[in-house]
Order: sequence, then structure tokens, then C-alpha cells
Amino acid sequence: MPQQLIEKDACDLLDADHVAVKHLFVEYARLAVAGDPAGERQAYAQKICNELTVHAQIEEEIFYPALREVIDAPELLDEAEAEHQEAKDMIAALEGMPAADAGMDDLVAKLAAAIEHHVKEERTQLFPKARSAKGLDLDALGAQLKQRQQELEAEMAA
Ligand SMILES: [Fe+2]
Ligand SMILES: [Fe+2]
Repeated sequence: MPQQLIEKDACDLLDADHVAVKHLFVEYARLAVAGDPAGERQAYAQKICNELTVHAQIEEEIFYPALREVIDAPELLDEAEAEHQEAKDMIAALEGMPAADAGMDDLVAKLAAAIEHHVKEERTQLFPKARSAKGLDLDALGAQLKQRQQELEAEMAA
């Protein structure tokens, strides 16, 4: 089967999102340092907020509940959900900012650090547990995540 037709499993799909949003954070920081002559920072901040919102929602609706059923580590999932809530609070504050300024730069940097920490825990703790769990079909879960992600992205674009 040609490579592009192979669907990502749940962990690979979620980690591709992690990598994509990391690139957006890097680009935002690059613009902030360069003085953002074309005024693109706010659009980047909005894109970061949108991507993280969809990502958190598909994890909360589909991935975390599926993990709760098969891995015996409720505290890890509780912590992940608490970290999502902290990120949502920062996203709400960012979305309420009228313009890109030093305050937005600080908050985006704070959000980037929080997401980096959270992603590290998913990569080093949750994903390995998901991969070794018996009875978890990561391919089927990946398809479910992708479908919901596309729905939410379409809603957001409308
Ligand atoms: Fe994630
Ligand atoms: Fe997460």
C-alpha cells in the first residue's frame, strides 16, 4: 500500500498535532523577536489556540476515556485533564486580548512551556501505556480521532 494511504494510529495522529503546534509556537516566537513587521503574530496566536482547542477536545472525548478503560493509572489521566484545563484558561485569556503586544508574547511563551511539559508526559507516559495495553485498537481509535478532528475543524472554519 502506498505510504500516503496508511492511516496514522491514535498516538501517531496526536503526536503529529504536537509537532505541528510546536512549529507554530516557534514561528510565533521568531516573529516576536523580529518585531513582527507585518503584524502576523495575532493570527499565529489564534491558530495555536484553535489547534490546541480541537486537539484537547478529541483527547478528552475519545482518547483519554478509551485509555481509562484499559490502563490502571487514573492519576495520570486526572493530571492530564487538569493540565488541559490550565491550557484552556490561558487560551481564553489569549483570545480575549485585543492586539499582539508584549503581554501576548509572555502568555504565548507561558502556554508553550505548559504544552511542552504536557506533551512530554503524553509521549513518555501515556503513549507507551496505550501502546502496550491489551484490548486497545489504536488504529480504530486513530480513525475515530481523525473523523472527530475533521468535524471540529470544519465547525471552527464555519
Ligand atoms: Fe496531546
Ligand atoms: Fe493532552
